[in-house]
Amino acid sequence: MDIQNIRQQIPVCQRMTYVNTGMSGPSPTPVVDAIKKRLDHELFEGAASPDVRAEGLEIRDQAKQAVAKLLNASPEEICLTKNTTDGLNHVMNGITWQDGDEIVTCSLEHGSVLVPSHFQGLRHGVNVKVLTLEPDEPRDSILEKIQAALTERTRLVFLSHVEYSSGLRMPVKEIRQMIQNRGGRDVMLLLDGAQTAGHIALDMKDLDCEFYSIPGQKWLLGPEGVGALYIREDMISQVQPHHVAGRATVSNHDPYRIEPITGSMDKFLMTSTSAALQAGMLEAINFVQGVGVDEIESRVLDLASSLKQGLAEVRGVTVISPLDRESSSGLVSFSVDGLEPTEAVSRLWERDRIVCRQVAFPACVRVSLHFFNTEEEVNQIVDSVGNLT
Ligand SMILES: Cc1ncc(COP(=O)(O)O)c(C=O)c1O
Repeated sequence: MDIQNIRQQIPVCQRMTYVNTGMSGPSPTPVVDAIKKRLDHELFEGAASPDVRAEGLEIRDQAKQAVAKLLNASPEEICLTKNTTDGLNHVMNGITWQDGDEIVTCSLEHGSVLVPSHFQGLRHGVNVKVLTLEPDEPRDSILEKIQAALTERTRLVFLSHVEYSSGLRMPVKEIRQMIQNRGGRDVMLLLDGAQTAGHIALDMKDLDCEFYSIPGQKWLLGPEGVGALYIREDMISQVQPHHVAGRATVSNHDPYRIEPITGSMDKFLMTSTSAALQAGMLEAINFVQGVGVDEIESRVLDLASSLKQGLAEVRGVTVISPLDRESSSGLVSFSVDGLEPTEAVSRLWERDRIVCRQVAFPACVRVSLHFFNTEEEVNQIVDSVGNLT
């Protein structure tokens, strides 16, 4: 991996220490060029003239295929969305809930998991079980807690694959196996992949979850405003579209009757979409895959391990992320004695141009290390954190 060459293509890297990819990744120049190229094409040739329109549809198809390849899924199991949360909402508002159904989730979750879950409670009488997990909860203990929460009424386990708060990587494969075929009834698994696509290797065929949602703008380094939802082929017909337009019907030409389509991901599509953003997402996936997701994952884990070791030696700093490699990711969270996380984040920016974020629960500072970050930046962060107090 030629890091210097990669950094040359990501202008932000030359201006600051950017360790906030978990919120929004810095796009490489080719990604923004692809977006501009499409916008210029629309500017000069007209967005709805025949060739430009046909090319726009081609971009959408290619983006779908690129996502399918990234996830090892079929393009028919993918629909492009606005972001992770949009995809999660398609599923959560599309399942036919019964009063008394149960959802299992956990306390480390992002609002994009917790809020849609609790809304099903308010609307449909669904019971939401929020398991209390430590930011570095051991894998066995996570599995035991989920096992203990399952009942006859459990319909869905809804978790992030990597927890945004501490970077804890959940044992999703083991969870999948545990909830499968319970008394002849499968419990469904919905995974929030906001912190995974472009960061760790993903394989839907191997994982075999029902639903998985990803963004374009984080670890894939694509633009904001585009993401993707995977629904396992046999489950597509069981999720009702909650926003509907022409593509949710077999034909939209008869004003007096419609025939809903059920088995196609197209039913979730609205009318117009942004081919420019989709072109950016396509280029971003190609960029990341050109580097290699396996290589990225291994480099990111090495960088995260160095940072955790460095921070552990700074007086007054407590690393709250897991330390073992299997449960780790590129997200490293820590607290500083006597300093509010918001204050630490603003001092790191103002003093040393380090861009990171605070997390409210558990209260901490979070650094996101991606493949374009370097050991020198890790050392700089350790020094800067040491100067905070
Ligand atoms: C776990 C998790 N889920 C959802 C989101 C929201 O992502 P998006 O803007 O792609 O919906 C985030 C963003 O930080 C996240 O970390």
